[in-house]
Amino acid sequence: MTEQAAEEAAIQTCVRAFYDLARADDLLGPVFNGWIKDWDQHLKMMDDFWSGALLGTTRYSAAPFPPHLKLEMTQAHFDRWRELWVPTVQTTLPEPIRAKAISMAEHMSHCWGRAYTTIKSQMAQA
Ligand code: HEM
Repeated sequence: MTEQAAEEAAIQTCVRAFYDLARADDLLGPVFNGWIKDWDQHLKMMDDFWSGALLGTTRYSAAPFPPHLKLEMTQAHFDRWRELWVPTVQTTLPEPIRAKAISMAEHMSHCWGRAYTTIKSQMAQA
């Protein structure tokens, strides 16, 4: 197996381990389980998203943030997402993509959470 194939396989393991935790989580579970109807398709899309973010592949080419705006979430959801994602990454991804996935998660949960709550409050006032 090439190094990239091993990293792709580790990302798939990581994504599935994360969603096992997230679907059972009291805060994130209702949002994921309520919205996602085709889990095979969602997991494949998340494999592609993280492969792009961590390995620079181009299978995922959509804008990842806008689909979240139809959901009802708070900063607490993004904090919980990070609390579940980081330990999952630590046990499933090899270096150097482990460190990259952790630092991206710190950034994304903070920046997406702030952008999300700001835009949602503007939408509520409009
Ligand atoms: C900042 C961390 C997050 C990242 C990087 C992320 C990433 C993504 C991506 C790439 C997609 C696919 C978007 C597309 O359709 O192209 C997605 C969809 C989705 N995410 Fe997130 N997400 C994050 C946080 C969350 C949180 C906290 C929740 C709350 C449970 C959540 C719930 C969902 C749901 C329900 C969908 C499917 C939406 C749909 O059906 O169109 N995400 N996410």
